[in-house]
Amino acid sequence: MTDELKIPSHVAIIMDGNGRWARRRGLPRVMGHYQGAQVAEDIVEYATELGIRHLTLYAFSTENWNRPKEEVEALFKLLEDYLRNKKQKLYDLKIRVRFIGRRDRIPKTLVELMKQIEEESKHFNRLTLNLAIDYGGRDEILRAVRKLLKDNPKVINEETFSQYLDLSCSPDPDLLIRTAGEKRISNFLLWNIAYTEFYFTDTLWPDFTREEFLKAIKDFSKRKRKFGRVIDE
Ligand code: FPP
Repeated sequence: MTDELKIPSHVAIIMDGNGRWARRRGLPRVMGHYQGAQVAEDIVEYATELGIRHLTLYAFSTENWNRPKEEVEALFKLLEDYLRNKKQKLYDLKIRVRFIGRRDRIPKTLVELMKQIEEESKHFNRLTLNLAIDYGGRDEILRAVRKLLKDNPKVINEETFSQYLDLSCSPDPDLLIRTAGEKRISNFLLWNIAYTEFYFTDTLWPDFTREEFLKAIKDFSKRKRKFGRVIDE
């Protein structure tokens, strides 16, 4: 048994625990999101250094609308400011940015910026960064079905159905990381995680580090992926 590091092609992350991180410091919840955004920036950069080709981050779910209005507004402002300030850095790193989720309920200025960034980064391919904003797995599947019914294709199989989903530019995730101790999927990438390996850590997202990310990848490297088959030992 070697300790060979297997770099997953696609890593997805549920960045949980920002609120608890802030509360433990007596800070407003939004400060946890600000710290979380800085960690996200560092992990994106580290992912490119490790040679990961696709990274998908859950930034705002279809259920997050149920949070207090001030927190929702602060999160969209944070996302918009962050994308505006950091887009050049992402291009310099040769990162292609894509957005998954609905676009009909989020601020129009953010939608315009998202379109601009997708267009300006479409030629880069060192890493594809998928940011999930107003994203829910069930909502995504329903949107795909509605589109499919309109198109009425002759053949509907797993491959053709996948093309109607938001992550059509990335393979299924090999590894899904969730921080902050919860062990649930929370409506993230329901179709795409059929054979994904899960890694859970108690670390709150704002405390997540490069070392912990590497630890998750080392753990992933030891997994035997069978995809339903029998593997001879
Ligand atoms: C979950 O923590 C986190 C979110 C709902 C928001 C995640 C967003 C960021 C980290 C900012 C991302 C920024 C970029 C640029 C990608 P929580 O608030 O549910 O924490 P809690 O469970 O402790 O309350």
